[in-house]
Amino acid sequence: MSNPQILLKARPKDRPGPEHFERVETAMPVPGRGEVLLRHRFLSLDPYMRGRMDDTASYAAPVPLGGVMEGECVAEVLESHHDGFAPGDWVRGARGWQGFSAAHGSSLVKLPKDGGGVPHSAYLGVLGMPGTTAWVGVTEIGRPKPGDVFVVSAASGAVGGVAGQIAKKYGCRVIGIAGGAEKCRYVKEELGFDDCLDHRGDLARALDAACPEGIDVYFENVGGAVQEAVLPRMRAFGRIAFCGTVATYNTRPLPPGPNLSVLVRRKLMLQGFIVSDHPNAWPVWRERGAAWLRDGALKFREHVVDGLDQAPEAFIGLLEGRNFGKLIIRL
Ligand SMILES: NC(=O)c1ccc[n+]([C@@H]2O[C@H](COP(=O)([O-])OP(=O)(O)OC[C@H]3O[C@@H](n4cnc5c(N)ncnc54)[C@H](OP(=O)(O)O)[C@@H]3O)[C@@H](O)[C@H]2O)c1
Repeated sequence: MSNPQILLKARPKDRPGPEHFERVETAMPVPGRGEVLLRHRFLSLDPYMRGRMDDTASYAAPVPLGGVMEGECVAEVLESHHDGFAPGDWVRGARGWQGFSAAHGSSLVKLPKDGGGVPHSAYLGVLGMPGTTAWVGVTEIGRPKPGDVFVVSAASGAVGGVAGQIAKKYGCRVIGIAGGAEKCRYVKEELGFDDCLDHRGDLARALDAACPEGIDVYFENVGGAVQEAVLPRMRAFGRIAFCGTVATYNTRPLPPGPNLSVLVRRKLMLQGFIVSDHPNAWPVWRERGAAWLRDGALKFREHVVDGLDQAPEAFIGLLEGRNFGKLIIRL
């Protein structure tokens, strides 16, 4: 048996293509002391991986050329040299775009063997990093109050879909922004947002109609033209949870930005955040989110693609909005 891996072959100048990835077969990893041998069952594909392909200063180191692409996995333990794990256990860990790995037990989070009422893949999405990001951004930075107008971009996605549902539970009027009629319908009818606006249309006009009184909280996932339409419509003392700007991840050089003087004039609070700086939020969200899922009070959608070989093409599509829901590779 061998271990299939997807490596970073070259650094993209702008949009990544298949030529930036290389698929190889390597020897099966051998677990050492304190390690477990993992068979990866699901791989999470997330927008942040585009940043890891660049060799620029960031909050995390880039993937080295020839290195295995980074990513979180849900995996099954095949063999254990760690007291805390036994064969048949399910775990989550940052194990990369590959079929198998040997990991130290201390780097893994144990999951319920039967999934605990949700599919195991949900620990990469709604109950994983994206769901926790939504929880941190809404509760710690957006600080919503009943009656607030709460706008969230990439609203059908892994982070945005959860963020808007949490804001609804805080009594906000929640307006999503998404690409296309089908995503907007899902956000409104299935996730229960009050409205959802298509950013492919005249977004400025649609925002004026949907929130004539302005916006109190903006959960920013997209940047670019969407951000330009939202910022001038913020109300005084609004809050912006600055989570990401996926629309700009393939753009080099970066385009001139919107006029940020509105931050001053409206006394807005804008705070960028990275979910990994909030370790205490993870268990809180996992418990709270799981309870809401059990009650049917939280919905999620996965976009599952079969096979490690499909990961590069699926990832390229994620940066262009071709995914509909949390993008997961099933291995
Ligand atoms: N700060 C943190 O700790 C943290 C953690 C996780 C994620 N994030 C950020 O959160 C954001 C959402 O991530 P996610 O995992 O939930 O991804 P996602 O929403 O599941 O997928 C990305 C979505 O972005 C939208 N998009 C892509 N290109 C776009 C463009 N040019 N213009 C407008 N929309 C575009 C697409 O939705 P539409 O088709 O609806 O436009 C696409 O489906 C990203 O910016 C990501 O980097 C930050």
